[in-house]
Amino acid sequence: MHEANPNIAIFASGQGSNALALMDAFERRDLPATLALVLCNCEDAPVIQKAKDKGYPTVVVPHKGLPRVEHEAHVLETVEKAGISHILLAGYMRILTADFLTRFQATRGGHVLNIHPSLLPLFPGLHAAEQQWQAGVETAGATVHFVIPEVDAGPIILQRSLKVRGDEGAAGLGERIRSEIEHSLYPDAVQTFLDKLSPLAEKVSP
Ligand code: GRF
Repeated sequence: MHEANPNIAIFASGQGSNALALMDAFERRDLPATLALVLCNCEDAPVIQKAKDKGYPTVVVPHKGLPRVEHEAHVLETVEKAGISHILLAGYMRILTADFLTRFQATRGGHVLNIHPSLLPLFPGLHAAEQQWQAGVETAGATVHFVIPEVDAGPIILQRSLKVRGDEGAAGLGERIRSEIEHSLYPDAVQTFLDKLSPLAEKVSP
């Protein structure tokens, strides 16, 4: 069952440039959802301050020293408390286990989305911009997809590409992918996703 105006959480671990683009989108676009939480696993990640500056509820759920299953239990408890229906991974450097995904879906009925800096199924895994640079591709890109237990393998929601210039280097290519594609692609994909859910919500709402 889909609810109207669902609560959304962003999960991030680092700089949070994609998280910031999503926060901006929640402010500027008429998205049929509420950004209710920004969750981070690293206490000193810049994304936390970015979210605080914008007035969003933040929570740090540190993973250090905890078995994965215990950390995920804390994360699940946190999203349940905040009434989160859908999760947007934006540079969240933890793999979510099949168990977490199953439990989240069972209790919240929601979806988990991720953004990955390549044209999946090409170049999954870490350092995707560097992988593309090393491979000498002419076209690079980014993908927003649903998360399934297999890493970077879920159904694709949106993809966009750019032409590699050839002089930007691996780090420069990563920066181009972020600024020229990801920061608009992720909000567009979230809008597409939520717009598809809304008619369902209208049908099931009293
Ligand atoms: C992005 O390139 C995203 O595709 C990947 O991690 C990076 C996060 O960057 N999953 P930022 O923290 O959003 O700036």
